[in-house]
Parts: sequence; structure tokens; C-alpha cells
Amino acid sequence: MNCALPYANGPLHLGHIAGAYLGADIFVRFQRMRGNEVLFVSGSDEHGTPITMRADRENTTPASIADRYYREHSETFRNLGIDFSIFSRTTTKVHAETVREIFLELMDGGLLTEKTMISPFCPGCNRFMPDRYITGTCPNCGFEEAKGDQCDECGKILDPQDLISPKCAVCGTVPEFRETKHMFLRLDLLQDGILKWLDTRTFWKQNVLTFTKNFVKGGLKERAITRDIEWGVPVPLEGYENKRIYVWFEALIGYISAAKIYSEKIGDPGYWKSFYMDPEVRNYYFIGKDNIPFHSIVWPGMIMGLKGINLPYEVVANEFLRFKGKQFSKSRGIGFTANEMLNLAGRDYLRYYLSSILPESSDADFSPEDMAEKVNSEYIDKYGNFIHRVTSFAFNNSLKLGKGELDGDDSMILEYAEKKFTQYSGRLERAEVKRALLEWLELVKESNVYFNSSKPWDLVKTDLNRCSSKLWVAYKLAQYMTVMVYPFTPDSAVKMLSRLGVSREVEKAGFDLLKNDEFTIPVEKPAKPFNKMEFEDVNPNPLDLRVAKIVEAKDHPNADALYVMKLSVGGEERQLVAGLKKHYSTEELMGRKIIIVANLKKAKLRGEVSEGMMLAADDGDSVKYLTVPDEIPEGSKVSIGDYGYNGTGQIELKTLQALGLKVKKVDGQFRASATLMDHNYFLNTGGKFVEVSGESRDGATIK
Ligand code: MF3
Ligand code: ZN
Repeated sequence: MNCALPYANGPLHLGHIAGAYLGADIFVRFQRMRGNEVLFVSGSDEHGTPITMRADRENTTPASIADRYYREHSETFRNLGIDFSIFSRTTTKVHAETVREIFLELMDGGLLTEKTMISPFCPGCNRFMPDRYITGTCPNCGFEEAKGDQCDECGKILDPQDLISPKCAVCGTVPEFRETKHMFLRLDLLQDGILKWLDTRTFWKQNVLTFTKNFVKGGLKERAITRDIEWGVPVPLEGYENKRIYVWFEALIGYISAAKIYSEKIGDPGYWKSFYMDPEVRNYYFIGKDNIPFHSIVWPGMIMGLKGINLPYEVVANEFLRFKGKQFSKSRGIGFTANEMLNLAGRDYLRYYLSSILPESSDADFSPEDMAEKVNSEYIDKYGNFIHRVTSFAFNNSLKLGKGELDGDDSMILEYAEKKFTQYSGRLERAEVKRALLEWLELVKESNVYFNSSKPWDLVKTDLNRCSSKLWVAYKLAQYMTVMVYPFTPDSAVKMLSRLGVSREVEKAGFDLLKNDEFTIPVEKPAKPFNKMEFEDVNPNPLDLRVAKIVEAKDHPNADALYVMKLSVGGEERQLVAGLKKHYSTEELMGRKIIIVANLKKAKLRGEVSEGMMLAADDGDSVKYLTVPDEIPEGSKVSIGDYGYNGTGQIELKTLQALGLKVKKVDGQFRASATLMDHNYFLNTGGKFVEVSGESRDGATIK
């Protein structure tokens, strides 16, 4: 089992997790439950231009960037419960050796060839530059900061020679185009073999199969697999001392080198061969959508040139997960990183929700509101509550559980459970994670119906044997649900199983556990199994910000620097005290639209009540209130980025301060911004930004 090696150049966001990793982990846990032996590998992809570019920007080395994200990613996966056998890296010695061996084997087989190509060379830096390091005007759309490999504005794939007035992104010098030698992989020779093999992959999911076939039909060309760069795996050829292997060529080999390192670790150096070289073993690859051609064409092509390595059994790739309709992007501040959401929601709730919306056949949308809704109404109200009702009833009535004689309803629901388990298994066997969870949910719903209609609370008074039989069936159902949900929410499943008094361990027993008939009723009154998820738990914005209009301003009776103002906040009137006397006259304030924090704890300032706080920018010289264009009605809610306020209750001043409200100068405007979970967002309402009501300074504080 292989899962794409993430680039070690930025945090993992939920799009990555939903694209490949969570589904892979659930699939692996399912296979292990079935009693299959699985080697589950991944690792950091630590070479490549994006990492060197980031290092340049941050004035550090590629190795230190890779180091930082290798550690961060390892921790993220651990926190998410993504349980790799090994999470390795592509900067190890074993990896470089494995790459060297495979490179030479392909060359011996006549699948590599040397060709001369034209590449950009910067006289200023005195070296060849990666295509992305050349910028210029896009010949297609006229965008002035297009990169040499692609225009980020119109999306057109470019050659650096296509750019109008090209220059080096590092030093600004105009590049020359010089000849340079590189090694190429003869995908053209492999094309027929790849096509024939693809014809045997009829069972692949449609999205991957269609994409791949269309790609190959366009014709496969020789592909350069070396580059004129310094950061990467060395090329084992004379004359290539200043060149390195192209990141994609070597990263794919990272699966095998990771498996080798794992084998060494467990003291069985040949162990990896029993997975990658035994044709009976299925090699799955779970990857992000944008990695498809590398895994369904390039990697199989390479493998065809090697002796004894298994071709992929299946390549599984999901569509994109979006955040409220937009693509996740750390740099643009859209959506959450995996770590941020883990801190807000917790591991199992996040895993449950992501599983239930996994973009398996079409794009899906992540929304914190939807997450709270689904977790509460399905996982907690239907599953958790079933466990709670059944165990509480058994405890309250000190029932002895026994199978006894089953009636028609009992047999029917048990057959139904078995049927759902079969369907669920069929789905998971096909790596249809979301659909498998739906089968589970149907079982949970039907079991609730069964329990309600059995009315054990009546039977307990009339027929104790029937009652304990019914309860036994309910325990059996609870066991089905729990064992089946284990691959999705492992921690909670383990806990719930112990509530049922099942003593065997779920990881060890696997699906055999479903045959267990022995339960123990609780010795203490069971507590609620799960805490409900509040929407505020997943909304990082704690501020109820509103547009208000000043309808009256006068001197504070007991304080020289303060005004007491009356505000109209969309039908509601509020009194506010503010220290503005040095900066504004009362006339200057009258009728103005301002921004207030409406959920700040009420305060009394020298005897006058202040219900909220008015926001103003202080650049050290002057204080200016924040405002919005006049067309925005009073009472309007102000969001921080995409995050509107949906909470209740009041906050302390320190909560406000923790958000680091600051002025940001953009296009000559002074906008108000706040920091939520490391992202900087602009305050906005009705499609307009909140701005300072005059000149200010970039970085000025807002209070
Ligand atoms: N680093 C690539 C990405 O994050 C994936 C590489 S997969 C590998 O998109 F197999 F090549 F390692
Ligand atoms: Zn340069």
C-alpha cells in the first residue's frame, strides 16, 4: 500500500488529507481487519524546485525547509491517526542508492537516451535556471509575471522561450538560451506496453481510467529526467556532476526505498520484496488527482523496464475537496490546515466528517457548519446514542443478557446487519470509502428503529426473558456498528467496544470479532459517550462585529478624555464609551458609520455603561475610527475573511487582543485585518472591506 509522498514545502491542508491519505488509512485498516498483511508506506518528497524557491525566499537551505516539513507532516499524520508502517524521506542514502540502481538498470535496457536541449541560462547567476525561475510577460494573455513553465493567470503551459521580455527571478538579468545535455526516459518506446496493460485495468475507477487513457492517446514523448540544478539526487554518469535527477523520476522510487528502510528496521532486509516483487500481492497507490499521470503512466513505464517489480494493481485518486466552494490554499488563506482543524474538531469527528464527504466521484465541499451538523445528527445522535441507550437500559435494569429464543423481528434485524456488513465490505474492497460509511449509517438507523419498536421498557415488566433477548440483539447490533466504524474512527470504536464489555482487542481480532456473543453489562452508570460539537468549536472567529451608526455623542460627565455615545445598530440602540476626545469633536462623529465589537463583556467606565467597543486604528500619531462605505446598512455583520460570527455569549478583552487586529495597506487603501489560526484575513461586510477613515500606516494597531 502506497500513499503519495507529499512535498516537504508547506503544511498539509484538508484538501490533501481528503484527496489521498484518509481514504488510504481507512482502506488499510479495513484490510488488516480482514486479516491481510499490509505494508503501508509514504514519506516526504524533499527535492524539487518549489522547495529551493521557498528556501531562497526565506534565506535558508532547501535541506532545512525539508527538515521542518518532514517533521511537521510526520506529526500531522500521527495526530490524524494515519498509521503508516513507515513515513520516510527522499534524502536518505538508501533512496539515493535505489535511484542509482534503477537509473542504471533502465539505461542498460535501452530505455534512457541522451539528448541536447535548450535551457535558460542566467549570466548574472552564472547557472542554468529552472523554468519556473524565469518570469516575463505571457504571450497568451499579457500577464506580466508569468512563470517560465506556466502562466498562473491564464493557466497556459509555457516554455521559458515563449515569454516576452524574460528575466531571471533571482537577479533580474535577461537569460540566454543555451544548449545543455540531459537524459530522457523513452516513454515513446513504452507506449504500446502501457496501453496494453491499461486495457487490463477495467476495474479502475472511472476518473483515473478515463484521464489516463486520454493522456496516452495523445501520444507519449521522451521525457527529460535530469535537470541543471544542485538540489537533488546525483546522476550516476560522467559529465553529469553538475546535474541532478528530476524530482518526479526519483520521488516515485521513494516507495521502494521507504519499504527497504522499513525492512532493515525490522531486521528483515528482504521483507519489502514480499510486497513489491510477489506478483500475488496487490500494490495500491492512493494519490492526489494532480499526480495521476505519474502513477498510471510514468511509474508503470519505469517498472516495465525493471526486472521483477509489480505493476500497480490500482491507482486510486479522489477529486478535489473545496472550502466553501473555493480551492484550499495556504498562501491565499483559504480553508484550514489539517493541524488547525484537528485542534478545533478532534481526530475522530474530523475523520468521520471527511469520510462522509470524501470527493470520490465528484468534487466536494468542506464547511464547518456542515461538519457540526453531520457529526451531531449522525455520529452522536444515532450511533453514540444507540450505545448509550442500550448500555444504560441494561445497567438500570440489572439485566442478564442472553441470546435466548429470537422472534421474527430479532432474526430479521440480525440478517439485515449481516447484509449491511457484506455490502460495506464490498464497498471498502473497492476503496469506496464514502459509500461504505453510508452502508454503516443505514445499519445504525435501522437498529434505532428496531430498538424503539422492541419497547424493552414494557417487556421488562411483563417478560424478562424476552427483554434480555432483545437487549442481547441490541448489543450484537452495537457490536456490528462499532467494529464496522473502527477503520473510520478507531479511537472511539475502541472505547465503545469496552462499553459493551467486549474484552477482545479490535485490532487483533479483526472482523472475527463480529462472531462474539459475550457481553458484560456496565457496573457503573454509563456516562454520555460523546460530547456534541458546537459550531463555535469549528469557527475560529469569536468576534461579533457590527456596523453601527453614531446617533448621539456627548462629553462623559466624570472623565475628561471620554465621550458617551448612543449608537443605532440595526434597530437596536446601544450606549458606548470611547476615549476619542483628543482626536475628534462630537460634530465630527455624529452620523458616522463605525465598527463595534458587539459581544464584548459589558463594562462600566467611570460610572457610564459601555456595551461593546468601537474599533479604531492607532498609528502612533493619530487615532482614526474604522468605517465602511455608506451604502452598507447599520447592523450589518462583519466577517473576518470567510468567517462570519455564529456564536453566543460574551468575550473578554484578551480574546479580542489575541486576534492581533492590524492595518494593512493594499493598493493605497488602509484595510483592517485580523489573524485567525496563523492566517491573515481582511474584515469585510457585504462584499466591501472595512477601512480606516483616513490616512494611516501599514501595520498600525487597531483597538
Ligand atoms: N510530491 C508530490 C505531490 O505532493 C507527490 C509525489 S508522489 C511520488 O504532489 F510518488 F512521486 F512520490
Ligand atoms: Zn539570475
